[in-house]
Amino acid sequence: MSCKDKLAVVTGGMGGIGTAICHRLAQEGAKVIATCHPSETDQVDAWVKSQIDNNAQVSVVAGDVSTPEGGATLMREIVEKYGPVDILVNCAGITRDTTMKKMTAEQWDAVIDTNLSSAFYVTQPIWNGMIERGFGRVINISSVNGQRGQFGQVNYSAAKAGMHGFTMALAYEGAAKGVTINTVSPGYIETAMTAAMRDDVRDAIIGGIPMRRMGQPEEIAHAVAFLADDASTYVTGANLPVNGGLFIH
Ligand code: CAA
Ligand code: NAP
Repeated sequence: MSCKDKLAVVTGGMGGIGTAICHRLAQEGAKVIATCHPSETDQVDAWVKSQIDNNAQVSVVAGDVSTPEGGATLMREIVEKYGPVDILVNCAGITRDTTMKKMTAEQWDAVIDTNLSSAFYVTQPIWNGMIERGFGRVINISSVNGQRGQFGQVNYSAAKAGMHGFTMALAYEGAAKGVTINTVSPGYIETAMTAAMRDDVRDAIIGGIPMRRMGQPEEIAHAVAFLADDASTYVTGANLPVNGGLFIH
Protein backbone atom coordinates (compact mmCIF):
# COMPACT_ATOMS: atom_id res chain seq x y z
CA MET A 1 0.00 0.00 0.00
CA SER A 2 1.12 3.57 -0.52
CA CYS A 3 0.07 7.10 0.35
CA LYS A 4 3.47 8.46 -0.60
CA ASP A 5 3.79 12.25 -0.40
CA LYS A 6 0.08 12.71 0.30
CA LEU A 7 -1.03 15.11 3.04
CA ALA A 8 -3.31 13.29 5.48
CA VAL A 9 -5.38 14.89 8.24
CA VAL A 10 -6.79 12.75 11.05
CA THR A 11 -9.29 14.43 13.39
CA GLY A 12 -9.19 13.04 16.92
CA GLY A 13 -5.70 11.98 15.87
CA MET A 14 -4.33 11.80 19.42
CA GLY A 15 -7.07 9.39 20.56
CA GLY A 16 -6.74 5.60 20.67
CA ILE A 17 -7.85 4.78 17.13
CA GLY A 18 -6.61 8.13 15.75
CA THR A 19 -3.07 7.48 16.99
CA ALA A 20 -2.94 4.11 15.23
CA ILE A 21 -4.28 5.67 12.02
CA CYS A 22 -1.69 8.48 12.12
CA HIS A 23 1.09 5.96 12.66
CA ARG A 24 -0.05 3.69 9.86
CA LEU A 25 -0.54 6.48 7.31
CA ALA A 26 2.91 7.85 8.17
CA GLN A 27 4.34 4.35 7.61
CA GLU A 28 2.64 4.33 4.20
CA GLY A 29 4.52 7.51 3.24
CA ALA A 30 1.95 10.22 3.99
CA LYS A 31 2.74 13.49 5.70
CA VAL A 32 0.34 13.30 8.63
CA ILE A 33 -1.39 16.02 10.63
CA ALA A 34 -3.31 14.94 13.72
CA THR A 35 -5.92 17.32 14.99
CA CYS A 36 -6.72 17.50 18.68
CA HIS A 37 -9.29 19.24 20.82
CA PRO A 38 -7.97 22.55 22.26
CA SER A 39 -8.27 21.00 25.74
CA GLU A 40 -5.58 18.45 24.78
CA THR A 41 -2.82 20.93 23.83
CA ASP A 42 -0.86 20.24 27.03
CA GLN A 43 -0.43 16.64 25.82
CA VAL A 44 0.80 17.50 22.32
CA ASP A 45 4.57 17.55 22.96
CA ALA A 46 4.59 14.19 24.74
CA TRP A 47 2.36 12.64 22.08
CA VAL A 48 4.51 13.91 19.17
CA LYS A 49 7.62 12.57 20.93
CA SER A 50 5.97 9.16 21.40
CA GLN A 51 5.24 9.11 17.68
CA ILE A 52 8.85 9.96 16.81
CA ASP A 53 10.03 7.22 19.21
CA ASN A 54 7.71 4.93 17.23
CA ASN A 55 9.27 6.00 13.89
CA ALA A 56 6.40 8.25 12.78
CA GLN A 57 6.67 11.97 12.12
CA VAL A 58 3.25 13.52 12.87
CA SER A 59 2.36 17.20 13.40
CA VAL A 60 -0.56 18.38 15.50
CA VAL A 61 -3.01 21.27 15.03
CA ALA A 62 -5.67 22.02 17.67
CA GLY A 63 -9.28 22.88 16.93
CA ASP A 64 -12.82 22.04 18.03
CA VAL A 65 -14.43 20.11 15.17
CA SER A 66 -17.89 20.21 16.75
CA THR A 67 -18.66 23.79 15.65
CA PRO A 68 -18.74 25.33 12.15
CA GLU A 69 -16.21 28.03 13.14
CA GLY A 70 -13.94 25.49 14.85
CA GLY A 71 -13.88 23.19 11.81
CA ALA A 72 -13.37 26.03 9.33
CA THR A 73 -10.56 27.67 11.32
CA LEU A 74 -8.82 24.35 11.88
CA MET A 75 -8.82 23.39 8.20
CA ARG A 76 -7.82 26.89 7.04
CA GLU A 77 -4.85 26.81 9.42
CA ILE A 78 -3.79 23.37 8.14
CA VAL A 79 -4.05 24.32 4.46
CA GLU A 80 -2.18 27.60 4.99
CA LYS A 81 0.63 25.91 6.91
CA TYR A 82 0.94 22.52 5.18
CA GLY A 83 -0.82 22.83 1.80
CA PRO A 84 -3.76 21.00 0.20
CA VAL A 85 -5.25 18.02 2.00
CA ASP A 86 -5.32 14.74 0.03
CA ILE A 87 -6.61 12.35 2.71
CA LEU A 88 -9.08 13.24 5.46
CA VAL A 89 -10.02 10.82 8.22
CA ASN A 90 -12.99 12.02 10.29
CA CYS A 91 -12.24 10.18 13.52
CA ALA A 92 -13.05 12.61 16.38
CA GLY A 93 -15.88 11.28 18.49
CA ILE A 94 -17.42 11.08 21.94
CA THR A 95 -20.06 9.07 23.79
CA ARG A 96 -22.69 10.28 26.26
CA ASP A 97 -24.39 6.96 26.96
CA THR A 98 -27.67 6.89 28.84
CA THR A 99 -31.16 5.58 28.29
CA MET A 100 -33.78 7.61 26.41
CA LYS A 101 -35.59 8.12 29.73
CA LYS A 102 -32.66 10.09 31.13
CA MET A 103 -31.00 11.62 28.05
CA THR A 104 -30.81 15.41 28.04
CA ALA A 105 -30.83 17.68 24.98
CA GLU A 106 -27.23 18.60 25.85
CA GLN A 107 -26.17 14.95 25.66
CA TRP A 108 -27.99 14.56 22.37
CA ASP A 109 -26.49 17.73 20.86
CA ALA A 110 -22.94 17.05 22.07
CA VAL A 111 -22.86 13.65 20.38
CA ILE A 112 -24.54 14.77 17.15
CA ASP A 113 -22.29 17.85 16.87
CA THR A 114 -19.04 16.02 17.59
CA ASN A 115 -19.66 12.75 15.77
CA LEU A 116 -21.81 13.78 12.80
CA SER A 117 -21.87 17.53 12.14
CA SER A 118 -18.09 17.62 12.52
CA ALA A 119 -17.76 15.54 9.34
CA PHE A 120 -19.51 18.34 7.44
CA TYR A 121 -17.67 21.16 9.24
CA VAL A 122 -14.25 19.63 8.49
CA THR A 123 -14.81 18.14 5.03
CA GLN A 124 -16.58 21.13 3.48
CA PRO A 125 -13.65 23.60 3.66
CA ILE A 126 -11.34 21.23 1.73
CA TRP A 127 -13.89 19.64 -0.58
CA ASN A 128 -13.57 22.05 -3.51
CA GLY A 129 -9.78 21.68 -3.44
CA MET A 130 -10.04 17.88 -3.74
CA ILE A 131 -12.49 18.19 -6.63
CA GLU A 132 -10.32 20.75 -8.44
CA ARG A 133 -7.14 18.65 -8.05
CA GLY A 134 -8.95 15.47 -9.10
CA PHE A 135 -7.80 13.46 -6.09
CA GLY A 136 -9.14 12.90 -2.60
CA ARG A 137 -9.79 10.24 0.01
CA VAL A 138 -12.34 10.93 2.76
CA ILE A 139 -12.71 8.19 5.36
CA ASN A 140 -15.40 8.47 8.03
CA ILE A 141 -15.05 6.47 11.24
CA SER A 142 -18.56 5.29 12.13
CA SER A 143 -19.42 2.33 14.40
CA VAL A 144 -21.08 -1.05 14.52
CA ASN A 145 -23.63 0.69 16.72
CA GLY A 146 -24.56 2.96 13.82
CA GLN A 147 -25.39 -0.18 11.85
CA ARG A 148 -27.32 -2.13 14.47
CA GLY A 149 -28.22 0.32 17.29
CA GLN A 150 -27.22 -0.15 20.93
CA PHE A 151 -29.07 0.07 24.24
CA GLY A 152 -28.28 3.45 25.86
CA GLN A 153 -26.93 5.05 22.67
CA VAL A 154 -29.76 6.69 20.71
CA ASN A 155 -27.59 9.79 20.24
CA TYR A 156 -24.44 7.92 19.24
CA SER A 157 -26.20 5.35 17.01
CA ALA A 158 -28.09 8.14 15.21
CA ALA A 159 -24.88 10.12 14.66
CA LYS A 160 -22.92 7.11 13.42
CA ALA A 161 -25.72 5.95 11.10
CA GLY A 162 -25.93 9.52 9.81
CA MET A 163 -22.24 9.49 9.11
CA HIS A 164 -22.63 6.67 6.61
CA GLY A 165 -25.55 8.53 4.99
CA PHE A 166 -23.14 11.44 4.58
CA THR A 167 -20.61 9.05 3.01
CA MET A 168 -23.10 7.57 0.55
CA ALA A 169 -24.45 10.95 -0.59
CA LEU A 170 -21.04 12.58 -0.95
CA ALA A 171 -19.67 9.57 -2.82
CA TYR A 172 -21.97 10.49 -5.73
CA GLU A 173 -20.54 14.02 -5.80
CA GLY A 174 -16.93 12.84 -5.79
CA ALA A 175 -17.20 9.80 -8.05
CA ALA A 176 -16.49 11.42 -11.41
CA LYS A 177 -13.80 13.68 -9.92
CA GLY A 178 -11.31 11.18 -8.49
CA VAL A 179 -12.48 11.71 -4.91
CA THR A 180 -13.61 8.66 -2.94
CA ILE A 181 -15.58 8.73 0.32
CA ASN A 182 -15.93 5.63 2.45
CA THR A 183 -16.93 4.61 5.97
CA VAL A 184 -15.13 2.28 8.35
CA SER A 185 -17.42 0.86 11.04
CA PRO A 186 -15.37 -0.50 13.94
CA GLY A 187 -16.78 -2.91 16.51
CA TYR A 188 -15.61 -2.62 20.13
CA ILE A 189 -11.96 -1.53 20.13
CA GLU A 190 -9.61 -1.30 23.11
CA THR A 191 -9.29 2.46 23.74
CA ALA A 192 -10.21 5.02 26.41
CA MET A 193 -13.73 5.09 24.97
CA THR A 194 -14.45 1.45 25.77
CA ALA A 195 -12.37 1.56 28.98
CA ALA A 196 -14.93 4.10 30.27
CA MET A 197 -17.77 1.56 30.02
CA ARG A 198 -19.13 -0.24 33.07
CA ASP A 199 -17.13 -3.46 33.52
CA ASP A 200 -20.21 -5.71 33.60
CA VAL A 201 -21.64 -4.16 30.42
CA ARG A 202 -18.29 -4.41 28.60
CA ASP A 203 -17.77 -8.04 29.65
CA ALA A 204 -21.26 -8.96 28.45
CA ILE A 205 -20.58 -7.33 25.09
CA ILE A 206 -17.23 -9.09 24.65
CA GLY A 207 -18.99 -12.38 25.42
CA GLY A 208 -21.23 -11.73 22.42
CA ILE A 209 -18.43 -11.04 19.94
CA PRO A 210 -17.84 -14.12 17.76
CA MET A 211 -14.06 -13.56 17.93
CA ARG A 212 -14.38 -13.34 21.76
CA ARG A 213 -12.16 -10.26 22.03
CA MET A 214 -12.17 -6.54 21.44
CA GLY A 215 -10.34 -5.21 18.40
CA GLN A 216 -7.07 -3.31 18.45
CA PRO A 217 -6.72 0.23 17.04
CA GLU A 218 -4.18 -1.10 14.51
CA GLU A 219 -6.88 -3.33 13.02
CA ILE A 220 -8.93 -0.21 12.25
CA ALA A 221 -5.86 1.62 10.92
CA HIS A 222 -5.30 -1.26 8.48
CA ALA A 223 -8.78 -0.77 6.98
CA VAL A 224 -8.23 2.99 6.77
CA ALA A 225 -4.88 2.51 5.04
CA PHE A 226 -6.54 0.29 2.44
CA LEU A 227 -9.18 2.92 1.65
CA ALA A 228 -6.59 5.73 1.63
CA ASP A 229 -4.26 3.84 -0.71
CA ASP A 230 -3.44 5.45 -4.05
CA ALA A 231 -4.60 2.22 -5.70
CA SER A 232 -8.05 2.16 -4.04
CA THR A 233 -9.51 4.09 -6.95
CA TYR A 234 -12.76 2.15 -7.49
CA VAL A 235 -14.08 1.84 -3.93
CA THR A 236 -16.49 4.61 -2.96
CA GLY A 237 -19.63 4.93 -0.86
CA ALA A 238 -18.75 1.69 0.92
CA ASN A 239 -19.10 0.82 4.59
CA LEU A 240 -16.31 -1.48 5.72
CA PRO A 241 -17.16 -3.26 9.00
CA VAL A 242 -14.20 -4.23 11.22
CA ASN A 243 -15.99 -5.81 14.14
CA GLY A 244 -14.84 -9.37 14.85
CA GLY A 245 -18.14 -10.71 13.52
CA LEU A 246 -20.28 -8.77 16.04
CA PHE A 247 -22.67 -7.67 13.29
CA ILE A 248 -22.76 -9.57 10.03
CA HIS A 249 -25.25 -8.57 7.38
N1 CAA B 1 -31.20 -4.80 26.08
C1 CAA B 1 -32.34 -4.79 26.80
N2 CAA B 1 -32.41 -4.38 28.07
C2 CAA B 1 -31.28 -3.96 28.63
C3 CAA B 1 -30.06 -3.95 27.93
C4 CAA B 1 -30.05 -4.40 26.61
N3 CAA B 1 -28.93 -4.42 25.87
N4 CAA B 1 -29.10 -3.47 28.73
C5 CAA B 1 -29.71 -3.19 29.92
N5 CAA B 1 -31.01 -3.49 29.84
C6 CAA B 1 -32.01 -3.37 30.92
C7 CAA B 1 -31.41 -3.83 32.23
O1 CAA B 1 -31.57 -5.22 32.37
C8 CAA B 1 -32.19 -3.05 33.24
O2 CAA B 1 -33.44 -3.67 33.40
P1 CAA B 1 -34.22 -3.58 34.80
O3 CAA B 1 -34.42 -2.12 35.07
O4 CAA B 1 -35.47 -4.31 34.52
O5 CAA B 1 -33.30 -4.24 35.78
C9 CAA B 1 -32.42 -1.70 32.56
O6 CAA B 1 -32.30 -1.97 31.14
C10 CAA B 1 -31.42 -0.68 32.96
O7 CAA B 1 -30.10 -1.15 32.61
P2 CAA B 1 -28.78 -0.54 33.19
O8 CAA B 1 -28.66 -0.94 34.64
O9 CAA B 1 -27.64 -0.92 32.34
O10 CAA B 1 -29.07 1.02 33.11
P3 CAA B 1 -28.16 2.17 33.53
O11 CAA B 1 -29.00 3.40 33.48
O12 CAA B 1 -27.41 1.86 34.77
O13 CAA B 1 -27.04 2.20 32.36
C11 CAA B 1 -26.15 2.54 30.21
C12 CAA B 1 -27.40 2.62 31.08
C13 CAA B 1 -25.04 3.40 30.79
C14 CAA B 1 -26.52 3.08 28.84
C15 CAA B 1 -25.67 1.10 30.10
O14 CAA B 1 -26.75 0.29 29.75
C16 CAA B 1 -24.58 0.91 29.08
O15 CAA B 1 -23.43 1.20 29.34
N6 CAA B 1 -24.91 0.37 27.88
C17 CAA B 1 -23.95 0.04 26.85
C18 CAA B 1 -23.68 1.23 25.99
C19 CAA B 1 -22.53 0.90 25.07
O16 CAA B 1 -22.42 -0.16 24.48
N7 CAA B 1 -21.65 1.87 24.92
C20 CAA B 1 -20.51 1.68 24.09
C21 CAA B 1 -19.48 2.73 24.42
S1 CAA B 1 -18.02 2.53 23.43
C22 CAA B 1 -18.57 2.90 21.89
O17 CAA B 1 -19.62 3.44 21.69
C23 CAA B 1 -17.65 2.55 20.77
C24 CAA B 1 -18.37 1.91 19.68
O18 CAA B 1 -18.71 2.58 18.71
C25 CAA B 1 -18.59 0.46 19.71
P1 NAP C 1 -10.79 8.29 21.99
O1 NAP C 1 -9.51 7.65 22.36
O2 NAP C 1 -11.61 8.92 23.06
O3 NAP C 1 -10.51 9.34 20.81
C1 NAP C 1 -11.43 10.29 20.41
C2 NAP C 1 -10.68 11.55 20.08
O4 NAP C 1 -11.57 12.54 19.55
C3 NAP C 1 -10.01 12.15 21.30
O5 NAP C 1 -8.69 12.48 21.03
C4 NAP C 1 -10.87 13.38 21.54
O6 NAP C 1 -10.24 14.42 22.23
C5 NAP C 1 -11.24 13.77 20.13
N1 NAP C 1 -12.35 14.71 20.16
C6 NAP C 1 -13.51 14.58 20.83
N2 NAP C 1 -14.28 15.66 20.67
C7 NAP C 1 -13.58 16.51 19.88
C8 NAP C 1 -13.84 17.79 19.36
N3 NAP C 1 -14.98 18.45 19.60
N4 NAP C 1 -12.89 18.37 18.59
C9 NAP C 1 -11.74 17.76 18.32
N5 NAP C 1 -11.43 16.53 18.79
C10 NAP C 1 -12.35 15.91 19.57
O7 NAP C 1 -11.76 7.25 21.30
P2 NAP C 1 -11.48 6.18 20.16
O8 NAP C 1 -11.99 4.89 20.66
O9 NAP C 1 -10.10 6.29 19.63
O10 NAP C 1 -12.54 6.69 19.06
C11 NAP C 1 -12.15 7.25 17.82
C12 NAP C 1 -13.35 7.21 16.88
O11 NAP C 1 -13.71 5.86 16.65
C13 NAP C 1 -14.60 7.89 17.43
O12 NAP C 1 -15.28 8.54 16.40
C14 NAP C 1 -15.42 6.72 17.94
O13 NAP C 1 -16.79 7.03 17.97
C15 NAP C 1 -15.08 5.69 16.92
N6 NAP C 1 -15.30 4.32 17.34
C16 NAP C 1 -14.68 3.83 18.45
C17 NAP C 1 -14.91 2.51 18.81
C18 NAP C 1 -14.26 1.88 20.01
O14 NAP C 1 -14.71 0.79 20.39
N7 NAP C 1 -13.26 2.48 20.63
C19 NAP C 1 -15.76 1.74 18.05
C20 NAP C 1 -16.38 2.27 16.94
C21 NAP C 1 -16.13 3.57 16.59
P3 NAP C 1 -10.51 14.54 23.84
O15 NAP C 1 -9.79 13.39 24.42
O16 NAP C 1 -9.95 15.86 24.20
O17 NAP C 1 -11.99 14.48 24.01
